[in-house]
This record gives sequence, structure tokens and C-alpha cells, in this order.
Amino acid sequence: MSARIIDGKALAETIKADVAGRVQSLKKTGIVPGLAVVLVGDDPASQVYVRNKAAACEKAGLHSRVIRLAADITEASLLDHVRTLNDDDAVHGILVQLPLPSHMNAARVIETIAAAKDVDGFHVSNAGLLMTGQPLFRPCTPYGIMKMLESEDVDLWGAEAVVVGASNIVGKPMAMLMLAKGATVTLCNSKTRDLGAHTRRADVLVVATGKPGIVKGDMIKPGAVVIDVGINRNAQGKLEGDVDFESACLVAGAITPVPGGVGPMTIAMLLVNTLEAAERSAT
Ligand code: GUN
Repeated sequence: MSARIIDGKALAETIKADVAGRVQSLKKTGIVPGLAVVLVGDDPASQVYVRNKAAACEKAGLHSRVIRLAADITEASLLDHVRTLNDDDAVHGILVQLPLPSHMNAARVIETIAAAKDVDGFHVSNAGLLMTGQPLFRPCTPYGIMKMLESEDVDLWGAEAVVVGASNIVGKPMAMLMLAKGATVTLCNSKTRDLGAHTRRADVLVVATGKPGIVKGDMIKPGAVVIDVGINRNAQGKLEGDVDFESACLVAGAITPVPGGVGPMTIAMLLVNTLEAAERSAT
């Protein structure tokens, strides 16, 4: 048996087309949704991500602004840039690309972003709202995964969901979103003993560790839905996920590919969050 491939790229295109339509409606009221992306330093992967985010905005009719700052800028100066964007009415969403250079306190930078413009959903206020079941912005990657599960008609009510990786960006909010839909959620981390004993129970398995091949076919329950968040470059320069795709395909019921799975959905949901921030600013 071979798993069904969940086409994140196609679903992302559908979502972006819907965003583009809503942007046109909003523009008729005189509001152009705007996203500001702040990039500090010259990390090559971050540069690609930021370019892709800006291009997706422009294509859907949103205004995008990229603020590129030198790697050795002081934290105080970065915070000044963020505060200026907080006060700019043309900017509805602010995203500071992570990781930041090591001399900066990322938590302090994120806390400086106005919560109402925090389209990443990383601000403590937004994390708290999500945790208490009243989300304002859902972090884009887990939000995109929820949309993929929805499009696959996955019923989370009472299901066993296992998340591998407990980051603030993916793992923790992912667990909260699935919990809110009635799943029994296990959140594994780098210290988890006998990872396979947990993953083999999962009806829905989300893997977000940055460790290529950490989950193999023999760690997957037959028929499970497997979501691979990892984007790793192998020795041949090819992109691969955290899940060993070949062996997983023989066991899973459905699986996301890398590339073309979760990645495009993250960008689509960033556009949704920015659009909704702009729509809220109109009321
Ligand atoms: N770095 C990797 N993923 C993300 C993301 O979703 N948002 C931000 N701001 N930085 C990232």
C-alpha cells in the first residue's frame, strides 16, 4: 500500500486565491492590507523565506515591505524599527524573521511587536489567547496544518494525535490547536524515551524537529495521517523532511511531501492572518 500524498501546494494556491478576492473587496473600502517583514543579517535560508513571503503578498494584492538590517545592528535599534511599524497605519502585520543574531533577545523583540499586528502569533498575549481557546492569530505553520487536516476530512474528535518537537513556533501551538478540536494530544520532545512507542499510537502524527529521518515507517501506525514539517538539505543538496518518506509511504494512510507539503501552507496562512488583521482594523 502507498500513502495518499497531501498536496499542500495546491491547497495553498486555493487559499491564496481566496485571500486575493477578499483583498480586492477590502481595497474597495480604502484599505490595502500591508505586511512588514524585518530581516536581520544575511542568513541564506531566511533570505529565501523572506523573498517568498514578500512575493506571495504582492501576488495576492497585499502591500509588502521588507526591512533589511545589518547583522550587527543593536537590539535597541531593532526595537525602534519595530515600534515605528507598530505606529504605522499602513502596516497591519509585522513579522520579524527568526532566528535573530545571538546578541539579541528574541523574546524581547517579539514582545515589542503590537499583539494586534503579530501575524506570526508568537507574542505571549497571542500564545495565551490560543492556550485559553480564544485565538486571535494562530501561528502560521500549525494553522496551515489544521487546514490540511480539514481538507483531508480528518476527524480529530477523540483521535490520538502525537506531535514530535515542542517549539513555540510549531509544536506547542500545534498541540493546542488539535486539543481544541477534541484530540488526545501527546507532545514529545528531544528527551522523550522510546519515541516510537508514542508515534506508533498516533492517528495523526506531526513531526517538527529539524532532524532528518527521525521518524521511519516502523514508527508509524498503519493508515495514520503523517505531517512532516521538517525542511532539511541533505548532502546531495536535496530538500528532505524529518520523516523517512520512502518507508513512511508504505505504512501511512496519507502523508505530506517535502517540498510541496507544509511549506507553502505556512505562507498562505501568513497572508490569511495579515488580511484578517487589516479587516479587523476596519471595524
Ligand atoms: N523562521 C522560521 N519560521 C518562521 C516563521 O514562521 N516566522 C518567523 N518570524 N520566523 C521564522
